Amino acid sequence: MNLFEDLSEIVKENEPLAPYTWFKLGGPARYFIEPRDQDELVEITRRCHDNNIQIYVLGRGSNLLVGDNGVSGAVVRLSHPSFAKVTIDDTVVRAGAGASLSGLIRQCARHGLSGAECLAGIPGTVGGAIRINAGGRFGDIGNITQSVKLMDSSSYRFERKRDDIYFGYRMTNIMARFILEAEFLLTPDEPENIARLLKEVWMLKKSSQPMNSRNAGCVFKNPRAMSAGALIDKAGLKGAQIGGARVSERHANFIMAEDNATASDVLALIDKIKDAVQARFDVEIELEIDIWQ
Ligand code: EPU
Repeated sequence: MNLFEDLSEIVKENEPLAPYTWFKLGGPARYFIEPRDQDELVEITRRCHDNNIQIYVLGRGSNLLVGDNGVSGAVVRLSHPSFAKVTIDDTVVRAGAGASLSGLIRQCARHGLSGAECLAGIPGTVGGAIRINAGGRFGDIGNITQSVKLMDSSSYRFERKRDDIYFGYRMTNIMARFILEAEFLLTPDEPENIARLLKEVWMLKKSSQPMNSRNAGCVFKNPRAMSAGALIDKAGLKGAQIGGARVSERHANFIMAEDNATASDVLALIDKIKDAVQARFDVEIELEIDIWQ
């Protein structure tokens, strides 16, 4: 019997993953699961655990490349509104992992709360952003995070407070499989100040990064005190192309997928970039995006 037969309303088999990612590339997931509440999440996690099925947690797919053969495990997406609630109590904001960053920013701004502006223009979920401590020049999500509710792959639920969480550059020490919810502490400010900063963050992105294209944001982390984009640019790789994958002319740390692109093209271009930067500058650049294959 199919492992999830009785849960067919929330489990799809061999579901193509490309439409769920910003690259719009990659093969299918053996199981694709969108639980409607925490009880269903616990149940599917238990079954995956008991049957040795690897779980991948998908957010907005904006920092992800799925390989052409897809993944053989279960991809879980906390897309149901029950995982996306945002509530505000004075300066404390609680948000479900599936809430969008843009929604979070909007709610904070509406309530005259400052601190989330640095996340403007990042097309992700609260859970995905915490996982990689998303942010940019103006700060990151770790700056405002007070606590997180988590669940591990054996369905054990627990909470981590700020003092036990380490937020570094595009990383945290949160290892639990699922981030369920987060609590943020913001600072009251004048709506005009918040609006001004939001505009500034957004304008900076617009002026330096490719918009309206199939990409996954910056592909590589910045090596210590250097810019990966500048290194790739100086290595002469702007516009470099393999198949349908091309290094952006606007910002060299972005790879754009064209109509005929495959995930293998992007992977080959990633290798070419790494090799070129290593050869030219003797610097090893590390991936920022997740690769599932
Ligand atoms: N630069 C070049 N050539 C390029 C790209 C950049 O010379 O092709 C130079 C710029 O002129 C600038 C320096 O490199 O002097 C840094 O560039 P930028 O200001 O664009 O910032 P970044 O370090 O490349 C970081 C984050 C971005 C974030 C921006 C703005 C990383 C890897 N990237 O980019 O995050 O949006 O700051 O806050 O940390 C992402 O994580 O996906 C992402 C896009």
